[in-house]
Amino acid sequence: MASSSYTDLAYRVDAYIEELFCPPQENLSFALDNMRRNNLPEINVSANEGKLLYLLAKLSGTRRMLEIGTLGGYSTLWLAQALPTEGYLLSLEYDAKHARVARETIAHANLATKVEVRHGDAKALLPQLVTQSEPLFDLIFIDADKTGYPVYLEWALKLIRPGGLILTDNVIRGGIVMATNLNGRGEAEMIARFNKALADNPRLETIIVPLMRDTVDGLAISRVKEQGEE
Ligand code: SAH
Ligand code: DHB
Ligand code: MG
Repeated sequence: MASSSYTDLAYRVDAYIEELFCPPQENLSFALDNMRRNNLPEINVSANEGKLLYLLAKLSGTRRMLEIGTLGGYSTLWLAQALPTEGYLLSLEYDAKHARVARETIAHANLATKVEVRHGDAKALLPQLVTQSEPLFDLIFIDADKTGYPVYLEWALKLIRPGGLILTDNVIRGGIVMATNLNGRGEAEMIARFNKALADNPRLETIIVPLMRDTVDGLAISRVKEQGEE
């Protein structure tokens, strides 16, 4: 069938890009091994998506980053590698075991001085950051529970600086977000609602880059306009 050979080609292209531009790195391999040893789900970003996160962070001169959904710290490492010496990354994680595994991975990469993994429900931790007047972030990566995405966008808009980037994983999910009747299909419906909120928000300039994962998925890249910008 045409669609299956097309999928096969997409995977081979993805592998080609990864082989060329994502050579093995000890810290990243350690992260993946540590996740496997601890039976964490293999739902981290791909190497190619990690490299894209790294490049976006570096290109935008990001000093302060916020990640929502740490898992074993694999995407955290990619992002943290783009930080300058005095940079800071705060990553929020609900599951105590995931947070523990991520901290091991961060320590192994000698990044513990720049990276903080905070254990708790992001829906409680994000309002705390706002109340406690946490300085604004240059980049926010949304990657926790998908049904929470619309709420995470609201908090991200309060915590991002003008000109900052909001990046969001898993916004395509094999295309199910495009279904016309999503009633009762929890995650897909919330992601579709989230994507529409990105599109409709006059403060944001957004594109979604499709990326190969288990299936085709995507990363939303949203730039927050500066004050007075049309
Ligand atoms: N960013 C990671 C993958 C994150 S998977 C990577 O690419 O390497 C999603 C993570 O979000 C899981 O670890 C899950 O425990 C966490 N999570 C789910 N609901 C959450 C919540 N309400 N608050 C914080 N973290 C949550
Ligand atoms: C899931 C979560 C993710 O962040 C991801 O990239 C893939 C899958 C999940 O919860 O199934
Ligand atoms: Mg994800």
